[in-house]
Amino acid sequence: MPVSKKNQLIGLDIGSHAIKMVEIDHSKKGMALKNFGMIGLPHQVIVEGSIKDKDAVCSAIKQLVRNLKIKNTNVAASISGFSVIIKKIMMGYKEEAELEKNIQEEAEQYIPFDINEVNLDFDILPSSGKSSEGEDADRMEVMLVAAKKDIINEYVNVIERSGLNPGVMDVDAFALQNAFEVSTDEDSSRACVALVNVGAEELGINAIKKGVSLFTRDSSYGGVQINEAIMSEFKVDYEQAEKIKLGSEELQKDQAKNLDDILKSVISDWVREITRALDFLSSAFPEDPVEKIILAGGSCKTPGFRKTLESETRIPVIEISPFSKFFIDEKHFDAKYLEYMAPQAAVAVGLALRGIGDK
Ligand SMILES: Nc1ncnc2c1ncn2[C@@H]1O[C@H](COP(=O)(O)OP(=O)(O)OP(=O)(O)O)[C@@H](O)[C@H]1O
Ligand SMILES: [Mg+2]
Repeated sequence: MPVSKKNQLIGLDIGSHAIKMVEIDHSKKGMALKNFGMIGLPHQVIVEGSIKDKDAVCSAIKQLVRNLKIKNTNVAASISGFSVIIKKIMMGYKEEAELEKNIQEEAEQYIPFDINEVNLDFDILPSSGKSSEGEDADRMEVMLVAAKKDIINEYVNVIERSGLNPGVMDVDAFALQNAFEVSTDEDSSRACVALVNVGAEELGINAIKKGVSLFTRDSSYGGVQINEAIMSEFKVDYEQAEKIKLGSEELQKDQAKNLDDILKSVISDWVREITRALDFLSSAFPEDPVEKIILAGGSCKTPGFRKTLESETRIPVIEISPFSKFFIDEKHFDAKYLEYMAPQAAVAVGLALRGIGDK
């Protein structure tokens, strides 16, 4: 269903390495990309998902809004990592309104944080309760999301101080899932796929089937690991390390070999983490083998990563293409650039698909 004009939101992905913004025009004819842009953040402005330097983030957001000439001030943003717990739980059948009232009590046993320090949200999953048969007819499956209030407040605060209005606060993993679903055809959206987002400080995994998340996990891996290894090996600062990583510095033969070793070692950490999640999935859901791995996040471009992951898991690995079903005006956008940036833009695209008041 198209989001009505007044409910449209700007997708704002505040990553630890870069802030991404996406604006989509929804119309009866379909969706058109209206705006996309990105701005880098200095190193350690955001650490482990917590905003350490609010001024730096505000000024980056304001700069990006100016650059893109964005008029809509309503945004959908997201959080991720250790401050978010996503859990699927089984419970006795309840009407949604009743669960709404008791959610704190129900959730308490599953959440490792003080229940008063989190915001709770839930979704009753399909095939629950009355719609299912047999012994599960009086049970239902609920997706529980708990997010730490202090982290949400940090993001809300920064968004408001940037002159914007946080209409929706989402979670990276679900935004990515929306971006995947809007860009894929009906058939493959019914298969079981693993979405893997390799950013700067986080590696997020979300395995989905028929639009429902089976399992999510975020861990502290990402592109920064490579920068840190380069910093210590080459005795350079973070920015210099970034340049070396992206191949924009001339290297001598032995340096090139060192860089190659660093890439291989970090890639093997990531592949191990992903394989572990896939092993868990195949034991917990043996009837739903993962048919494809879909990559997102800037670090999925790390040379050798996609191929290594494919050969280790023997599962096809492709990059997400969140813009693929949008109308793109080539007078405004460079198609090649968009295609290249697509994995890094995916969370922001998923956020831009949200509307005020939707669920
Ligand atoms: N071509 C490339 N090759 C390798 N790494 C890349 C490339 N382009 C970007 N990166 C890396 O991707 C990371 C940024 O990706 P992304 O924007 O998805 O992260 P983020 O959302 O800001 O971070 P996080 O979600 O972890 O907080 C950086 O570490 C950057 O160095
Ligand atoms: Mg990110």
